[in-house]
Amino acid sequence: MFPSVKEAERILKESEDINPGIWGNHCRVVAHCAGKIAEACGMDSEKAYVLGLLHDIGRRFGIRHLGHVSDGYSYMMSLGYDEAARICLTHSFNGIKVEEYFGNFDTTDEELELIKNALAGAVTDDYDRLIQLCDSMAGSERVLCLEERMGDVKRRYGSYPQKKWDANFKLKEYFEEKSGRNIYEIVEKESFRIKKI
Ligand SMILES: [Fe+2]
Repeated sequence: MFPSVKEAERILKESEDINPGIWGNHCRVVAHCAGKIAEACGMDSEKAYVLGLLHDIGRRFGIRHLGHVSDGYSYMMSLGYDEAARICLTHSFNGIKVEEYFGNFDTTDEELELIKNALAGAVTDDYDRLIQLCDSMAGSERVLCLEERMGDVKRRYGSYPQKKWDANFKLKEYFEEKSGRNIYEIVEKESFRIKKI
C-alpha cells in the first residue's frame, strides 16, 4: 500500500512545516527521477513518484541519521502504507544490511532492532533499487551526476564506502539496460529544476 500523489504531497508539505529544510526538495528531485525512470522502464511511474516523495519522510521527526530510517518506517506503517515504509528502510542500504549504513548510528536499541527485523523480512524489488539509484543522484534543487552527489557526501563525511559507490553505478547500468536509454537523459538532468514554492 502507498498513498496517492496528492496525499503524498500533502504529507511531505506538512512534514516540511514541522521540520523545515532542504530535505523536502531533495525528496521532490528523487520523486521526479523515479517517476521518469519508471516510465521509461514500463514500471508504475505514479508509484515510483510517490515512493520517491516519501523515502526520507522520517526527517519529519527531526535531524537524525540512522534514526530517520526507523522514524520513516514507523510513521508510514502507522498510516498503513507498508510499501512506502519499506522504501524508508531500504533506500539507505544497497546490500539490505544494517551494517552497511553510512552515517551515525543514532538509534535506540529498540529502533535498531526494529530496523534489523524489518530488513530481514523485507522482500525488495525494482522500486527499492530505483529509489536507491535516484537518492544517489538527487540534489536539493536539481539532478546531479552520481560522482557529483556521492563526491559531495564523501566531502561531508570524509569518506564514502567503495562498495556503495560501485553498487550505485551498477544500479545505473541496470536501469539503463532495462530502459535502453541513458539515465541522465531520461531524468532531463540538464533542464530539470525544482520549482520554488
Ligand atoms: Fe534521500
